[in-house]
Amino acid sequence: MSEKPKVAILGTGYVGLVAAAVFAERDFDVLTSSQNKEKVDTINKGKAPFYEKDLDDLIEKTVSSGKLKAVHGRKEAVLNSDIFFIAVGTPSLMSGEADLSLIKETAIAIGEALCEKDTYSVVVARSTIIPGTTRNVIIPLLEKYSGKKAGKDFGVCMSPEFLRQGAAVDDTRKPDSVVVGELDERSGEFLENFSNQLYEGLDVPVLRMGLESAEMVKYGRNTFLAMNISYINEMARIAETIPGIDIYEVVKGIGVDWRINPVFLNAGCGYGGSCFPKDVKALISFAQLRELSPLLLETVEEINLQQAAHTVGLARQELGGNLKGKRIAILGLSFKPETDDMREAPSIKIANHLFSEGADIIAYDPKAIPNAKNNFIKDTIQISYAETIGECLKDAECCIIVTEWDEFKKLTADVFNMNMKRSVIIDARRIYDADFRKEVEIYKGIGLGKERSE
Ligand code: UGA
Repeated sequence: MSEKPKVAILGTGYVGLVAAAVFAERDFDVLTSSQNKEKVDTINKGKAPFYEKDLDDLIEKTVSSGKLKAVHGRKEAVLNSDIFFIAVGTPSLMSGEADLSLIKETAIAIGEALCEKDTYSVVVARSTIIPGTTRNVIIPLLEKYSGKKAGKDFGVCMSPEFLRQGAAVDDTRKPDSVVVGELDERSGEFLENFSNQLYEGLDVPVLRMGLESAEMVKYGRNTFLAMNISYINEMARIAETIPGIDIYEVVKGIGVDWRINPVFLNAGCGYGGSCFPKDVKALISFAQLRELSPLLLETVEEINLQQAAHTVGLARQELGGNLKGKRIAILGLSFKPETDDMREAPSIKIANHLFSEGADIIAYDPKAIPNAKNNFIKDTIQISYAETIGECLKDAECCIIVTEWDEFKKLTADVFNMNMKRSVIIDARRIYDADFRKEVEIYKGIGLGKERSE
């Protein structure tokens, strides 16, 4: 395959839009479709409809070079392409199961377009979907609405993505691997060739396997990482009871063992975002439907829930056992730095606990305040938002560091001492060093035992 296939990306969320922009940067002709007209217009004006590091520049560049175009209709995107990626969201239902309605709608639209195509093309499921979904949900819809046979008239693959928000562009530019789940040899060959063209010269291995294994790889990676985080948060709680222990020192010692990777062993106020919480829940409910008891995954989720309450507990302890009427500053609202995404952010749980205990909450975040105001916290709790760090800290009796933005890391103890009523710091992301700790009135860090008194 020397000529580059034309690409359609159905879905303009993080996964879809970042892939669309990176593929276009690598000289593929890419059409990306959204059902939201406003989003289509924004992209075609060269802008990203949400904040993600480096994405605005990349969209500007690829739209103006003519390689990337957004369209409103899914059908138009498919009819003009050779390989189509399904990259729509699969949010959690109340039961914890993934909601497949967008996947189904997209498969139907692709099926209808395939009906009118006479060249071989390949459908690739890229959304996170429970094992069996490509074969049992997507393929039957593609076949029904196209009147054609998968594996004969068109190809089908499942290829999960592993990008991290905040680093999505870099992760997509050079992933550690491409997982290709294939319905049949020809489909897999097509996607492997596409990946080799996309990552030419970059040494990105392609791992070929069955459809269901590829679907499970995605859950395997995310639940394993979530398990690491809950493990270290449990260890951190134990460490906090023992004078002299610092879990961050302990992790250095654990991580030198070649069998253990320390990268995702940062203790904190718990994991959030649109992936770990949803994927852990989905795998639990998938296992339960099979009459299994996924005890480990249930515990991973439970520890994560408790970690937000535990963080608030540290504040309560330092404020005389009661938060009523106390002004508490929250620094950081997004679920991690370099994104404005508030989905399942630990800040929401922390703010809810503080509110239910009667605290007077003020929060600052460099990017996420509009999302926090519009989508998440507004109707359920009272919270005020500060425009600057100084305003947030002013007269507060306690400050909780919830997201490790760089601008918070640079703050000196003086900033807290000068603005706050009392500089009581709960560092839930462990961003401050030993010197800082000595200079504020009270410092409590997740996973940090009391100073030893000799
Ligand atoms: C995660 C995975 O890391 C990606 O590989 C995957 O592709 C993505 O989900 C997805 O399924 O789409 P993401 O949710 O963007 O990526 O962010 P992470 O960097 O993994 O962080 C998730 C949460 O875990 C954050 O709230 C972060 O603060 C927390 N975390 C992470 C910790 O508390 N400790 C750690 O050591 C690492």
